[in-house]
Amino acid sequence: MQPTLVSHADSVVINNERFRPYLTRDVIAARVAEIAADIDRDLEGEVPILVGVLNGAFIFLADLMRALTIECEVDFLKLSSYGAAKISSGRVHELKSLDAEVTGRHIILVEDIVDTGLSMQFLQKKLGEMNPASVRTATLLHKVDATRIPLDLDYVGFEIDNLFVVGYGLDYAQVGRQLADIYILDD
Ligand code: IMP
Repeated sequence: MQPTLVSHADSVVINNERFRPYLTRDVIAARVAEIAADIDRDLEGEVPILVGVLNGAFIFLADLMRALTIECEVDFLKLSSYGAAKISSGRVHELKSLDAEVTGRHIILVEDIVDTGLSMQFLQKKLGEMNPASVRTATLLHKVDATRIPLDLDYVGFEIDNLFVVGYGLDYAQVGRQLADIYILDD
């Protein structure tokens, strides 16, 4: 099988498309620590459930969880994905639901990236209907110019350009998630 991810000194090539370095692992780690400090402060004395949105959020969630000093729990759900495309289909549905009992609990929805915002809007509504004590949102990346709907985001790592990114859990057609740094499409 031909490799679909080829690393060069100054870029990575996935399925013949070139991505350039954008956010290094050190920059990401520093920002994750800041977000964790904000959550520690905002939810002091509480035991929130971090709800990770699969697949992309699992690396951010793992780092965020280890950077928290307050006690917390974790659960995951999964939404329909982009598949092999680089643009959203505009439709969201759930592929795997939560196992945790969220009634009366503080929830932090953890996303890798907010693009159109449809996934986060869907989840805020869905979790809000489950009678939690609160629902907060944490996303590592936000493509501000792509989000055309009103959306409240509590913790945002980086506001980024409206271009496709890979690495640190984010994929292009399932490739590139394992990259420790984040790369952006070189247009
Ligand atoms: P939204 O519903 O349009 O906000 O899309 C959210 C989901 O789309 C994210 O959780 C990602 O799985 C995926 N996504 C959006 N932009 C990118 C990107 O630039 N790279 C990889 N996945 C992305």
